[in-house]
Amino acid sequence: MNIPPINLKAQFKGVKKDILKGVREILEEQKLILGQYCQKLEGQIASFSGVGHAISCANGTDALILALMALGIENGDEVITTPYTFFSTASSISLVGARPVFIDIQKSDMNIDASLIENAITERTKAIMVVHLFGRLCDMDRILAISKKHNIPVIEDMAQALGAKRGGIAAGCFGDIAATSFYPTKNLGGIGEGGMVLTKRDDLGEKTRKLRVHGMGDKQYIHEMIGFNSRLDEIKALALSVKFEKLSQWNKKRLENAGYYNMHLRDLPITLPPIDDETSHIFHHYVIRTQERDALQAHMKEKGVMTGIYYPLPLHMQPCFSYLGCKEGDFPVAEEAARTSLALPVFPELKKMEKDHIIKTVRSFFEK
Ligand SMILES: Cc1ncc(COP(=O)(O)O)c(C=O)c1O
Repeated sequence: MNIPPINLKAQFKGVKKDILKGVREILEEQKLILGQYCQKLEGQIASFSGVGHAISCANGTDALILALMALGIENGDEVITTPYTFFSTASSISLVGARPVFIDIQKSDMNIDASLIENAITERTKAIMVVHLFGRLCDMDRILAISKKHNIPVIEDMAQALGAKRGGIAAGCFGDIAATSFYPTKNLGGIGEGGMVLTKRDDLGEKTRKLRVHGMGDKQYIHEMIGFNSRLDEIKALALSVKFEKLSQWNKKRLENAGYYNMHLRDLPITLPPIDDETSHIFHHYVIRTQERDALQAHMKEKGVMTGIYYPLPLHMQPCFSYLGCKEGDFPVAEEAARTSLALPVFPELKKMEKDHIIKTVRSFFEK
């Protein structure tokens, strides 16, 4: 049996007809950028996430940069964030001239440890950037209480968590502004690059819309601020809009798959991802932890199961961030997670026999 980490060909079968029909229409019309399909997608995601403003853009990294720029974050500012995430979370902070200030993650779910935030705040702190890692919401009650107490805005990197909810509030609606990605492997993945900024604040929404198109407002070629070009193509927006209709169903399938694994792996000497309610984790990745990670990965590969390591080197240890002066040992929980984490395939189209093969293969490693 050969099980890929994600099966985009299988996913495409279910949406192919509508996407191809839409693509043909767009090509006939020749309205190719920021047209009706971008508007439709922005409307779908704004109402799904409960925010007033959803602004599509070229990719998730740009969405993070736009969110930081909308908040006016610049040279000399500091942004508190996690070292255990995809690169863009911190690179976006550096790219606007600010300094990422890393704090460790919590063991239970590998999200930022809210109890460490206050100690990291200085007079230069201009935002807290949280990441709902692998699709699981951070401890937003605690993070928002700190944000309110110190009057520091919260940016949500929700690239892995579109559709996650807690207490009826969706990812993207907790903080001041949020950024998501439609990279093809995401829970809502496009037919190319794509991203979006979400915010319930009118001031930030209006500013982001201008920043996305060279800082232009309603008057063409009048530049109110220095923005950049980060527009979304109509063909990509159309595909996302079609796929969006399936997102809740796909997220539900991922949760079911995760529950199935947890049930059948719980007696093994591995740490399983917590599932404490039906909505706060949408399982972009299903990540287990074991000291024998590398050997287990090799064993899975031998049996035809492709797994992933997210992420092998925490950001404070990346060569490009050496200028921050962090060293190995500074964030032990993140470092341990990087050494022990392994993502098993959890995509919605997995068949029961594939899930059973994955379970059997993990079990055979520990029962050897
Ligand atoms: C947590 C996180 N942040 C940011 C990004 C950046 O998104 P993109 O690849 O669309 O630039 C990604 C996706 O790769 C991500 O997983």
